[in-house]
Amino acid sequence: MKVIIVSDKNHMGQVAADLIETDMKNKTPYVLGLATGSTPIPLYQELIRRNQETGPDFSTTVTFNLDEYVGLEATHDQSYRYFMNQEFFDHININKDSTFVPNGLSENIEEVGKDYEKAICGIGGIDYQVLGIGTNGHIGFNEPGSSLASRTRKVRLTENTISDNSRFFERKEDVPTEAITMGIGTILDARKIMLLASGSNKAETIAKSIEGPITATIPASSLQMHPDATWVITEDAAVNLQLEWD
Ligand code: F6R
Repeated sequence: MKVIIVSDKNHMGQVAADLIETDMKNKTPYVLGLATGSTPIPLYQELIRRNQETGPDFSTTVTFNLDEYVGLEATHDQSYRYFMNQEFFDHININKDSTFVPNGLSENIEEVGKDYEKAICGIGGIDYQVLGIGTNGHIGFNEPGSSLASRTRKVRLTENTISDNSRFFERKEDVPTEAITMGIGTILDARKIMLLASGSNKAETIAKSIEGPITATIPASSLQMHPDATWVITEDAAVNLQLEWD
């Protein structure tokens, strides 16, 4: 694993954009796995800026988002489809028909999960998967205890995640209690993975994920098994690391 420690969120966005831009060169179609939440926003802003100036070109890029709440319409301002359009897709030259977010409104989420896996496989897999991390170590919505081999499926959100995400909703009771998420197995199939994290509230779980044992109780620790995983984290999120990383 590679760990890159950066000064602040803007720097994190630039480093992450460099990694993606370099990897995108000469690959068509390029397949990106994307995350929502507050952490990747500096990355999206940097990619938007570059796209509007000299590149990269997203006209043939295909994207798969990690997750979506169950029960929120795409037009709901807290749905992940809405977030992605607002924060990224509406500002770049991507074909929206090539942007996929799991359908959390379906009557048959199990089928949605299977189809999502087939679609990712059908296009040849994900080239670069972007991740954030929950304060409990979740990746996507794979909460502690998720199988390290799990695939896209419906999950119940933990009290910790509902409470963390309530900052985006008017009332805590409005936060959906279920979601559909790529599994840890799905995520680990990506050719490359980058996990972005900022803020001192992530420091403890980051140290456990990077330097602790691989365990389903800290889903992000599974990245230790991946041959090409990079952590891009701000100094305040890196304070609990004990080993030397460069
Ligand atoms: C979102 C996702 C989650 C978030 C995590 C961190 O698509 O998969 O795992 O990355 O909850 O959220 P923020 O960035 O808001 O701290």
